[in-house]
Order: sequence, then C-alpha cells, then structure tokens
Amino acid sequence: MNTLILGSGGREHTFAYKIAQSHRCENLYAAPGNAGTEEIATNVALNVTDFQAIKECVLENNIDLVIVGPEDPLVQGIYDFFTSDEALQHVKLVGPSKEGAELEGSKQRAKEFMQRYEIPTAAYQSFTAGTLEAGKSFLETMNPPFVLKADGLAAGKGVLIIDDIEEAKRELENMLAHSKFGAASEKVVIEEFLDGIELSVFVLTDGKNYKILPTAKDYKRIGEGDTGLNTGGMGAISPVPFADEVFMKKVSDRIVVPTIQGLQEESIDYKGFVFIGLIKVGDDPYVIEYNVRMGDPETEVVLPRIKTDLIDLMEATADGKLNEIDLEIDNRAAVTVMAVSGGYPEAYEKGKVISGIERIGDSIVFHAGTAYKNGEIVTNGGRVMAITSLDSDYKKAIKKSYQNLEELSFDKMYYRTDIGFDLS
Ligand code: AMP
Ligand code: GLY
Repeated sequence: MNTLILGSGGREHTFAYKIAQSHRCENLYAAPGNAGTEEIATNVALNVTDFQAIKECVLENNIDLVIVGPEDPLVQGIYDFFTSDEALQHVKLVGPSKEGAELEGSKQRAKEFMQRYEIPTAAYQSFTAGTLEAGKSFLETMNPPFVLKADGLAAGKGVLIIDDIEEAKRELENMLAHSKFGAASEKVVIEEFLDGIELSVFVLTDGKNYKILPTAKDYKRIGEGDTGLNTGGMGAISPVPFADEVFMKKVSDRIVVPTIQGLQEESIDYKGFVFIGLIKVGDDPYVIEYNVRMGDPETEVVLPRIKTDLIDLMEATADGKLNEIDLEIDNRAAVTVMAVSGGYPEAYEKGKVISGIERIGDSIVFHAGTAYKNGEIVTNGGRVMAITSLDSDYKKAIKKSYQNLEELSFDKMYYRTDIGFDLS
C-alpha cells in the first residue's frame, strides 16, 4: 500500500511511524512532513490545503491511501474533492466530508447537532454583530466565569474564559464588531462554564461502525500547574486513570452512540476520527467540543498503544468495514512530553540545532517542528519534539520521558516538568 500522510507535526510523524511498521507498507510519503518523517518516508513540499498539488502528488506516486492529519483541509472539503474527481475516486481517504468537518468548523453547528441528539453539553446561545446587545444582556444573566467561543476555526485561540463581566462584554464586542478572530468570530457562542476535569475520547468511524480508541489527557497550558497561555498541547497521558469502566459506559451510551447515529441519520459521510473533548463534572461526561481529526500530542500516546495494523485499520475505515476489524490495545500506559522553543506560544526563534536525539534509547522521539538544515536537525516550529514512553504504569512512563528529555538539548528549549501532576 502506498500511503500519503498530510501534515507536519508530531501527530503526523506518529502516523508515519505506525504505518512504516505495517508489513503492508510499500512507499510512504509525508506532505510537507518534518525531519522525523524524512527518516522513514519521502517528504513532499506542498501546502495541505493546495488540493491540486495533492492530486498531482497522489497520481504521480500511485498513492492508495491518504491520511489527513490537520483540520484545515478537512474543513475546506478535501474528502469531497477526492470523491468528486474521477481520477481520485479510487483513492482511500481517511477523513470526514466537508459537512462532517463542520462539527469542528462551526461551534454553533456542533452545539445544534448535540442538542438534536440530546448529547450532554454546556447550555449556550449564539450571537452575531446584529445581536451584540442581546449578547451582552445574555451575559448579564449568567454567572462567571464567562465562556466566549468564536464560531469558526481560530487556530485553537478562539475560546476566551473571563471572570469579569465588563471585560466579557468588551471581548464579545471585539469579537463580533471588531473581528478579533477575523471571519471566525462573526458568530460567537456564549456558554455555561463547566467545572471539572478534562479528557479526550477518540472514535474511529466509517460512518456506520465505530471503534472507541484509547482515552487521553492533554496538558494545554504553557506553565506548570496548568497556568499561563494556551498552547497546542505540552504533553499527554493515555489511558486516563479516572476514565474507568462505569464512566466510559456513560461516554459510550450518552455521547458516542448518539453521535454516530446522528451522523447516520443526517446522511453525513464520515470516514475518519471523531475527537471528543470532554469535561467530567462530578461523575458525568459533558462534551466541550468535537474535533474531526486526531489530537496533537494525544496521537503520540494513543497510536503507540494500538497493536492492530494501522494500514488495516485505515483501509477498513475508508472501505466501511470497521466491523470486520479487531482493535487490539497495548495495556501499558503511554506518556508524552513536548519540548518547545523558548517563547512559545508567543514569538520564538527557529533554526536552533537539536542535539542528543541519538542518546534517547527507551523512549520514542516524535518530531514536530523540526527540519534538516545542512545535514543537521534544527528547530522549525514552536512545538519541537514529543518524547513518548510506554511502561506498566503512567508514573514509570513519565519518569522515563523526563530522563530522556535530559539528553535532549537546543538553545532555549523548554518543557513542563509536571505532566500528570493532577492525577495522583
Ligand atoms: P475548545 O477550543 O472548545 O476546546 O476550548 C478550549 C478550552 O477552553 C477547553 O479545552 C477547556 O479547557 C475550555 N473550555 C471550553 N468550553 C468550556 C466550558 N463550557 N466550561 C469550561 N471550560 C471550557
Ligand atoms: N491537543 C489538542 C488538539 O489537538 O486539539
């Protein structure tokens, strides 16, 4: 099987790592990829939303299977582009249709979907520039903290959680009337604050059948103890210790089953991942968001625990045959810790030489923002490398990742030293 993975982060290196392990892997491509994918695949320099360039790459290299990493090409309709093009129709693409991707592409659409299928989520209302004053009045009726969400994709920055009512009103105005997040904040969802602990559940579906993949918990803030600015994710753990059987049955019955049934009922073509962001409030799960792709760095702990051949799994998804596959999970715990460029998630420098990778033995190094320059591996992004470890329990795995991080260095390297702090 010739496979193309779209994207360039730690998530995509992890997909490449698992695909490369399959006995069915023939030629493997990553576009645009990073220095990690370059070691196990052929990198192709193209933009993941340039569908014409992707088509050329697929035809030139006889690609059979395309795995879409990030949300942008999905929200822009890459699935529909492939299914409506005669030359591409035979290619198996893992990712939802444009309509399915709206679950991530529009917070309002996602909330309406959840309401239709009585999926537990925070109470909400949505507003536009025309209803700004109504939005401010709605805020008056709520208790702090106030949760404001830009409707569209805002590169993970579109959610504001604010304690002060006057500031919340100002930010609502900034979003609706002054395009704080560009077109993404033409509509804003205001919702009830849910107080609890977060986790993520990943579901792989072919639109009819589904498999619940291992759970994961992501550490999103830049600072120790979950403080400071939001990032793409600074580390992750799988499985989530507090997501026990009783809780997961609630997740399955109240959230996963109605989500898949809803997709079917609305005839939405969905052959891909559903990443469900949850908050556990008391003993009950509530959905905070859907994403239509895998998470990053959650992928770096979820995929290494999947023992089933990843090409078999991806093919069954694209062919609508997930019911024919047995999902085998490694019982060990997986932990990943992200090494980032100093300054991230604000301004940071690139091009720093990374040393010590060869000294990392019993952890897996997944590259994120890296590139080759004059034969050396250098930093090329905010999140640089994820160090993943597997062990009999998560505490041992954490220890391993931290020991190996000490081997790694680049100028102004930073990582959180407290991944998993809230679990014991
Ligand atoms: P989202 O982009 O929807 O995942 O939101 C980003 C982050 O904001 C989430 O990971 C949560 O930490 C937080 N968040 C979003 N919605 C709520 C809510 N209703 N109550 C509490 N926290 C929330
Ligand atoms: N780590 C969060 C995300 O991928 O959205």
